[in-house]
Amino acid sequence: QFKGKVRIKEVGPRDGLQNERTFISTADKIHLIEKLSESGLDYIEASSFVRPSWIPQLADASPVLTRLIRRRGVMYAALIPNLRGLQRALHVSIDEANIFMSASEGHNKANINKTIEETFPILEEVVKEAQANHLTVRGYVSTVIACPYDGPVQPEQVLYVVDRLVEMGVTEISLGDTIGVGVPPQIERLLELLLEKYPPTLFAMHFHDTYGTAIANIVKSLEMGIRIFDSSIGGLGGCPYAKGATGNVATEDVNYLLTAMGYETGLDHGKLLEAAFFIESKLGKPLKSRQLEMARGE
Ligand code: HMG
Ligand code: MG
Repeated sequence: QFKGKVRIKEVGPRDGLQNERTFISTADKIHLIEKLSESGLDYIEASSFVRPSWIPQLADASPVLTRLIRRRGVMYAALIPNLRGLQRALHVSIDEANIFMSASEGHNKANINKTIEETFPILEEVVKEAQANHLTVRGYVSTVIACPYDGPVQPEQVLYVVDRLVEMGVTEISLGDTIGVGVPPQIERLLELLLEKYPPTLFAMHFHDTYGTAIANIVKSLEMGIRIFDSSIGGLGGCPYAKGATGNVATEDVNYLLTAMGYETGLDHGKLLEAAFFIESKLGKPLKSRQLEMARGE
């Protein structure tokens, strides 16, 4: 039976590609984004305005956003670490600024070279400037279950960062299991704490699938009232500053799960697979998603 709508936010062109060694040309990145937008996805994180020397793959964020043919009704967002990144993004126009930090010190330091406390004023500056330019801001909190440097992360640490981001004016929080180690009881404990204070509509869940638990964690999140999920086409991705973190859960696998459960995603499954096969051919290695394996007859 029909269970309502769920929104899938596509992060493959950013979270996926940032971890790929094979350089994907600007034209191919644009082609991927355009194919994704044809599948009905209405939110695509197109690139990242971080320091290019940290993520060389996405150094072409500006030409990607400039040359892209934008589809009406699709939001094109980008990852923004600081004011310098926001200025670059404003120059080429984005629909939402996605700021990010971690719930744990170790990963925050490795990923953005700052302590947690040093990070807040930098992000606050970004939010103010984004709002002055009529942009909404999404905030990622990484390592919400565990940190590759510090070990287990307590839900209270996540709440602390969420509180600060909400105070700044962030309108959506994406909770990242960056290294993909979480299991449903941990997701439940985390969301129980956050949902005592905030409505489920504030949150998106961002699962990496290192140990194959992302789908189980999505089902748990659905039970807890979450209706926004991040995913990457073909299961692309990882975090270059979190060793062992593999790709995001695959968009086509999430779409299968949700539609088979009776949720409406508005996505064309065939077109998702086309986009996945396209980027797979450019990377020159087989991507791992159950739907792709089925389509290949494996
Ligand atoms: P830093 O080296 O400490 O930079 O990097 P700084 O602020 O000290 O500045 C040094 C120089 O870099 C300056 O140039 C700046 O202008 C320049 P100089 O004056 O020396 O010539 N610079 C920039 N240039 C272009 N664009 C910029 C920029 N910023 C500074 N935006 C910084 C600090 C945060 C920039 C760096 O650490 C960085 O870029 N980190 C990003 C790492 C990253 O992208 N990680 C992956 C994304 S996060 C993720 O994947 C997790 C997520 O998916 C959720 C989950 O799964 O949990 C979101
Ligand atoms: Mg991620």
